[in-house]
Amino acid sequence: MSLTPMGFRPPDGPGSDTSGRKVTTATLREQKLRHEPITCLTAYDYATARLVDEAGIDMVLVGDSLAQAVLGYENTLSVTMDEMLHHVKAVRRGVKRALLVADMPYGSYHLDPTRALDNATRFVKEGGAEVVKIEGGEKRADLIRRIIDAEIPVAGHIGLTPQSVNVMGGYKVQGKDLSGIEQLMRDAVALDRAGVACMVLEGIPREVAAMITAEVSTPTIGIGAGPDCDGQVLVFHDIMNLTFAPPAKFVRRYADGAALFSNAVRAFSADVKSLQYPADEESYHLPRETKAGLENVLARKRAMGR
Ligand code: KIV
Repeated sequence: MSLTPMGFRPPDGPGSDTSGRKVTTATLREQKLRHEPITCLTAYDYATARLVDEAGIDMVLVGDSLAQAVLGYENTLSVTMDEMLHHVKAVRRGVKRALLVADMPYGSYHLDPTRALDNATRFVKEGGAEVVKIEGGEKRADLIRRIIDAEIPVAGHIGLTPQSVNVMGGYKVQGKDLSGIEQLMRDAVALDRAGVACMVLEGIPREVAAMITAEVSTPTIGIGAGPDCDGQVLVFHDIMNLTFAPPAKFVRRYADGAALFSNAVRAFSADVKSLQYPADEESYHLPRETKAGLENVLARKRAMGR
């Protein structure tokens, strides 16, 4: 850790929201009504959370994609409540303006409703999350109502739900035939009626996402669902090329983080090995009087032959 104070918050830069107004679940609904696109990115740590928040992103999601993006797991199924909570707390410290959403990991809401409520409450009480996200539509509606009854806003998530990877037989675009579309519409309406704060539409045809967005009063946040949703979410590591894998069709890469970090690490290594780092200006020095005193002591020692 450098000795640089970490508390400094720079003025807002280009593209950032300068209103400073806190984003709430009510803001998302207003944005839908005003046709003002909602922005959402994932973050898993304090530094990224600050960058995303200070750039004016509306929602920060601590996604269970933490599993692959940061923890190196194969899929999202392995990540635990405790691992998620640890990262939600770090992100909470970095987010001031955006709405903070915590993803309920696989197994944290599937077993029994009381345990689900307990886990959702932990995200709010211990992690400081403002919304919890749950995968699944119609079949989760009763559970979602219970969590909302406990004063915890819920984000729905339908379509390609990664926690169902084994049931879906892979990561496949959903709602491609008439019965799939019908199921998605039922899921969306069930979430709308349950009163979710927003719903993520993942991996569905553009036409179906547009129909859902027009049908429900809940703001829809798309990922691989085309441009007609009320907002868009992407994984931070995807847009920064930090995934070590070819991107999905819907991912747009905004920076080559892998090249940036890798080049910086190589440059540091080369500088140390060639004695170019640290330079004298990058070193601390003794005060003049102490240095003079020290030189005196050393000179005396030399004179005494020691
Ligand atoms: O975990 C995740 O990253 C998500 C996506 C919707 C972005 O759930």
